[in-house]
Amino acid sequence: MTSETSAMKMPLHQRVVLITGCSSGGIGHYLALEFAMRGFKVYATARNPSKIDPILESHGVINVQIDVMSDDSVNNAVNQVLREAGCIDILVNNAGQICVGPVVEVPMDRAREVFEVNVLGVARVCHAVVPHMMDRRSGIVINIGSVSGYMSTPWVGYYAASKAAVHTLSDALRMEVEPFGVKVVVVAPGSVRSHLVDAHMQRESLLEDGSRYKMAKDAVRARAELSQKEESMDTELFARRVVDLVFKKDGPGRYATFGGNALAAWIAYFLPPRLRDFYLARMFGTSKLKEDLLAESKATAAGVCPVSHRAGSRCPMGHQSRGDRSGSSSSSSSNGSFMARCPVTNPTAWTAAAASATAFAVFYVYRNPDIVDRTLRLLGIK
Ligand SMILES: NC(=O)c1ccc[n+]([C@@H]2O[C@H](COP(=O)([O-])OP(=O)(O)OC[C@H]3O[C@@H](n4cnc5c(N)ncnc54)[C@H](OP(=O)(O)O)[C@@H]3O)[C@@H](O)[C@H]2O)c1
Repeated sequence: MTSETSAMKMPLHQRVVLITGCSSGGIGHYLALEFAMRGFKVYATARNPSKIDPILESHGVINVQIDVMSDDSVNNAVNQVLREAGCIDILVNNAGQICVGPVVEVPMDRAREVFEVNVLGVARVCHAVVPHMMDRRSGIVINIGSVSGYMSTPWVGYYAASKAAVHTLSDALRMEVEPFGVKVVVVAPGSVRSHLVDAHMQRESLLEDGSRYKMAKDAVRARAELSQKEESMDTELFARRVVDLVFKKDGPGRYATFGGNALAAWIAYFLPPRLRDFYLARMFGTSKLKEDLLAESKATAAGVCPVSHRAGSRCPMGHQSRGDRSGSSSSSSSNGSFMARCPVTNPTAWTAAAASATAFAVFYVYRNPDIVDRTLRLLGIK
């Protein structure tokens, strides 16, 4: 009992957790399971409750419908929980959608929907739940952000922007509700196994028809699939680490990041922007795209057809066939070894970025020995 947190000591009743986005197999599902196994009364919500795994019910979890895009849906669900359980001790804003595509090509309706779910969805649930926590002078809000929220990359601009908004909204909320005894923590997952990407792939194509980025299609796909790789964190383990925050001696803290590539992303965040862009352009295929576009312009100027035609067929414009070219660079879309060379799929590139960031940090501290003291003083630790 001595290691219990203020959060743990808080209520005498069974603590109540409300979690959004608990469809089977995702982070919300495993968070619901983990909280239930640690003795919490869990309300697991989904916009489509039939997607909630029945196994949760066998652990005493109660299912409720919440579509975070709808005021009515959120208010009805929160009122139901408050009526039944009397309070909400912990709120986990987990529901979210990824959005893949170049910034100037993602349809505005889709961009709006991503912000509606990822940012205003969090705000909407906070509006319904946090005032009750403030009145009770206790509660914890866990907002699930993303490493993309502080390290944006090509092809996920709207997702990254929405998660950055979750982080900054949470920072403001944390300071505003702290006087009322309510704590707010951002958890920024790196890559964690879930259905985030499958759901996106089922919903829409990666690039619009006629996209100016068609040569980079493999790089866009690689970025979309980045969170679902060998090195992605097991979802059960991720959920355990998140629930552990609630049990921490000094409270949940302000910010936590776990998952595959989380450390590399965190270190890369501190790189000078020019160096960071340099690495990210190589990792996510925009420097390759630049080379391909240059080769295409040269080929067009030389009368070589920039378009791949079926083998044996003639270019209707009378250009020389691509296959006839010698020594010219081929496009990523026609190059089968692209995936092998793409740094997104190559952890060495991440390691190189991390090593450079570390070297830069060591060099910086060496040149500015008082920086540690100054930082500690700024943080009020010294
Ligand atoms: N997995 C990762 O690597 C990773 C990395 C960084 C951040 N995250 C964040 O982690 C959170 C959980 O994602 P996940 O990886 O577990 O993916 P997931 O399995 O797709 O879970 C996302 C959940 O959000 C729900 N959702 C989507 N739109 C909603 C809406 N309008 N109202 C209510 N619920 C809605 C989904 O419901 P449906 O099943 O009906 O679509 C699903 O239950 C998200 O915020 C995501 O951005 C994940």
